[in-house]
Amino acid sequence: MRSRNFFLTIGFVGLWTFVTVLLVVRHTADFGKRKDFMMKLGSLESGVKSEAKIQDGLIRELVLILKSKAAKQASTEKPPVGEELVAERGVQEIPLDAAPKLPSNQAKGFDGPVIPVVVFACNRVSVKKCLDNLIEYRPNADQFPIIVSQDCGDEPTRNVILSYKEQVTLITQPDLSDIEVPPKEKKFKGYYKIARHYGWALNTVFAQGYDYVIIVEDDLNVAPDFYEYFLGTQPLLEKDPSLWCVSAWNDNGKGGLVDVQRPELLYRTDFFPGLGWMLSKELWAELSPKWPKSFWDDWIRQPQQRKDRVCIRPEISRTRTFGKVGVSNGLFYDKYLQYIKLSEDYVHFTKMNLTYLLKDNYDKTFLNHVYQCPIVTFEELRKGMVKTKEAVRIQYNSRDQYKRIAKMLGLMDDFKSGVPRTGYHGIVSFFYKDQRVYLAPSANWKGYNLAWS
Ligand SMILES: *[C@@H]1O[C@H](CO)[C@@H](O)[C@H](O)[C@H]1NC(C)=O
Repeated sequence: MRSRNFFLTIGFVGLWTFVTVLLVVRHTADFGKRKDFMMKLGSLESGVKSEAKIQDGLIRELVLILKSKAAKQASTEKPPVGEELVAERGVQEIPLDAAPKLPSNQAKGFDGPVIPVVVFACNRVSVKKCLDNLIEYRPNADQFPIIVSQDCGDEPTRNVILSYKEQVTLITQPDLSDIEVPPKEKKFKGYYKIARHYGWALNTVFAQGYDYVIIVEDDLNVAPDFYEYFLGTQPLLEKDPSLWCVSAWNDNGKGGLVDVQRPELLYRTDFFPGLGWMLSKELWAELSPKWPKSFWDDWIRQPQQRKDRVCIRPEISRTRTFGKVGVSNGLFYDKYLQYIKLSEDYVHFTKMNLTYLLKDNYDKTFLNHVYQCPIVTFEELRKGMVKTKEAVRIQYNSRDQYKRIAKMLGLMDDFKSGVPRTGYHGIVSFFYKDQRVYLAPSANWKGYNLAWS
């Protein structure tokens, strides 16, 4: 009996050891796979999160549409949509099927060209906040005619616009038909409508013979020197073929990230900022034949469109968005856009010498300046270990390094077509604790990497 127990015990211990060893070996072999799995799980999680963001925006949009629909139905009984449009035509100053009558493109009694401001509106009556502001600061109604282009056929919004009488010109996007979108992109239908609206409105306005147009969306406030800024930079846009836009927007324009003592400071940027921007008729002639069906702003940032051209942008934004509800901006507004500082000064840009922004001058002085700045690390900067108050440079060598440092500094950390927001030759300029800092790639930078996104 004893020896049988003995052998049983030995057998049991042996089996136990074997199983343990087996488990350890398998565990080790699986470790690589498991890491891979965890990474996949991580990217799945971030995918789900970004999807949730999109859905959130869509829900806000939907609520807005439903509200406006309910308001419409409550007001009076209306004929079906098609007849409604015909019925409306009788009282409309601007017939839907004829070319709209637009303000003259002839400059009379002022310096510089006529530059219409085209305001894109849809169904937000808050367009009033935008128009009040644009009218308040407008130095000359003949030089800067305000043309509101309305899509969406929303009656309350239309009435708000018409209440401005001759101070603004209303044009109406005639094609309110549904847009066929691939099933997978149903949730992005709003972006298709926006692209259709932009295409139609810019074709219509440029057909009047203007050389330049400023584009504004209905949720923007503008700064006191908004017009002066565009008038002062227009000659640069005319002279320098490497420029393709002037934008009033600084993507990293949060209060703590800009030098409030330097409202006159302007930059060149490879990143198309949008949000209050000026383009020429030549650029429109180039873009309009291939204008995309959706996501026009990301499309315009692609190398095929940009062709290495750059925009002028200010240190301190001349526009600020107040709109919370839109196709895309819900969470983005809460987290970011609402902190962008709107300039309050009046800078006499037309009286300044802005030739430093022309490519040859700028590439000599700006790039030299940046690469002569001493290199510091973010940690040194954060801990106040940097002795100089002069400009300094933080170097980044990879996408992840850029994103990590940008996040810690409160900068936007995303890339579009490989370009970081506000970047010029990869350099992002900002203010940190009263000091100018450049987040910059190494001096032998070879160009943007499309895989950085
Ligand atoms: C404007 O500034 C540039 C330097 O960027 C200088 O070369 C030029 O002489 C200045 N022009 C005038 C009219 O002061």
